[in-house]
Amino acid sequence: MSAIQVLPDLLVSQIAAGEVVERPASVLKELIENSVDAGARAITITLDEGGMRRVQVEDDGEGIAREDLPLALARHATSKIRSLGDLEGVATMGFRGEALASIASVSRVSIASRTGQAPHGAAITAEGAQLGEVSPAARAQGTTVSVADLYFNTPARRKFLRTEATELGHCDEAFRRVALARCDVAFTLKHNGRVSRHLRAQALAERAAQLLGEELVAASVPIEARSGGLALSGLAGLPQAAKPRADAQYFFVNGRFVRDRVLAHAVREAYSQLLHGERQPAYVLFLELDPRAVDVNVHPAKTEVRFRDSRAVHQFVKHALERALSPSAAEAPVSYASISASVSTGGMQQAFGLAQPVAAYSAFMGSALPPALPQAEKAPPLGYALAQLHGVYILAQNEAGLVLVDMHAAHERIVMEKLKRNLDAGAVQRQALLVPAVLIAEALDIATAEENGEVLERLGLELAASGPNELSVRAAPAALAAGDIPALTRDVLREIREFGGSEALNARQNELLATMACHAAVRANRALTLAEMNALLREMEETERSGSCNHGRPTWYQLTLADLDKLFLRGR
Ligand SMILES: Nc1ncnc2c1ncn2[C@@H]1O[C@H](COP(=O)(O)OP(=O)(O)O)[C@@H](O)[C@H]1O
Ligand SMILES: [Mg+2]
Repeated sequence: MSAIQVLPDLLVSQIAAGEVVERPASVLKELIENSVDAGARAITITLDEGGMRRVQVEDDGEGIAREDLPLALARHATSKIRSLGDLEGVATMGFRGEALASIASVSRVSIASRTGQAPHGAAITAEGAQLGEVSPAARAQGTTVSVADLYFNTPARRKFLRTEATELGHCDEAFRRVALARCDVAFTLKHNGRVSRHLRAQALAERAAQLLGEELVAASVPIEARSGGLALSGLAGLPQAAKPRADAQYFFVNGRFVRDRVLAHAVREAYSQLLHGERQPAYVLFLELDPRAVDVNVHPAKTEVRFRDSRAVHQFVKHALERALSPSAAEAPVSYASISASVSTGGMQQAFGLAQPVAAYSAFMGSALPPALPQAEKAPPLGYALAQLHGVYILAQNEAGLVLVDMHAAHERIVMEKLKRNLDAGAVQRQALLVPAVLIAEALDIATAEENGEVLERLGLELAASGPNELSVRAAPAALAAGDIPALTRDVLREIREFGGSEALNARQNELLATMACHAAVRANRALTLAEMNALLREMEETERSGSCNHGRPTWYQLTLADLDKLFLRGR
């Protein structure tokens, strides 16, 4: 082994660049964050060849003083913190003072800038960290940093760059992360001379609609929660906005995009009742907390954080999300209608008052208005049933327009939530059966029933062997008594046999109850009376999570009058 030597500065920067400057997208992230830190109101990004040829970021921020230009490119030089105390409470995106130095060590950088006070601008260039002279430059207040030919002096790393399309994709993602976090800043993104995105300063819903799609925003609920120094805001996608891939998940902590295990877990738990299988939730969430309660200096790219009290953060995020995602249907339609309205018309359109359509219909139909719509009281959120369609869907009229309900899915959820409430309170409500239901059972079933009598009773089932291979059900869950009791019993016994009685009740409670609920729910093709349909609508309004069935599919859908007008090309 050779003697120990201190490494030359350039090499140190190049080593550091390995951590921070992984690809053009990482350069872009660092430059935009610097502009944001400088208080920019408008930022223009220019990319050439997916950023491999050039990444340039221009802002109208506070600028860099002429004499500071060489320092901006020096390692460990920053204007953002001065002490450990500052570091612990850091509120800017940057603070390590090494991004520009690292970038300059592996590319050709030029900076032109002008502060508010300076009579004119100044510029500096650097090539592989070799600084040029500071020269005068004509420009308005703000800064332009241009990074050309990334890795021109480190060919080994250049080989790791992918195709133009791939690198552009990464750049676009880096851009989305900052642009979502800073809706108050205007952005323009150009690639190979063409403008690909143009965003004005706007509200989050509008920005998210532009960056992630209107469908996603229309199928999400706004969140606004606050408790003990923690605040969560943003948009949480409903089950119908879920995707097969986790590519619409944005979590920001104090404005910084992060991938954090504690937060990811809290989100997964909050969605676990709504999404089954491999569906991935979509969300844009912002957690704000005292900067001293979170350490962002875990990794140079700062996408990892450490919370001082991660349990409290976990609980808060989980509960805030659960509450926002599982309002009874009574609260939900308002959010659906108001968000989609604000997206399509920029928030100008007011929600419809009930009086307006009613008046329109009265004028149109004379006195033939059906009495089903009592006008004095406030109409219930899901409205009143009009009819049943093909034995599958309920059609109802509410304030906003037409409501379509998948009656089987909705009923299944109602029964499941009822069973869950029962169980939380001790045991599922039982109903004695006048005539016991009898099922053919194997010895194993009978043994399982006998060994797990207590668990079964908590689930609302009272079983007894009534012959060598016969079980009789004497009592069944009240909410399910009209269903197929033998099939239900067989399913429950199978789950208990597979997982053990107490395990099935604890870890697999939701699956177990979902299985049970499935046997009770009104089957498709059963004709319901209007009164029955209205009763179902009222129950949905009172049931938590009734917006989606036990398998995560939506249970109802709102078609607003505006949607219908659009369908019929009726101008307003
Ligand atoms: N767009 C910009 N506007 C104003 N100042 C900037 C800009 N970009 C960089 N700077 C200055 O250069 C310094 C070094 O930037 P950087 O290497 O990214 O480190 P950090 O952001 O961690 O401070 C910053 O602290 C800031 O003073
Ligand atoms: Mg920086």
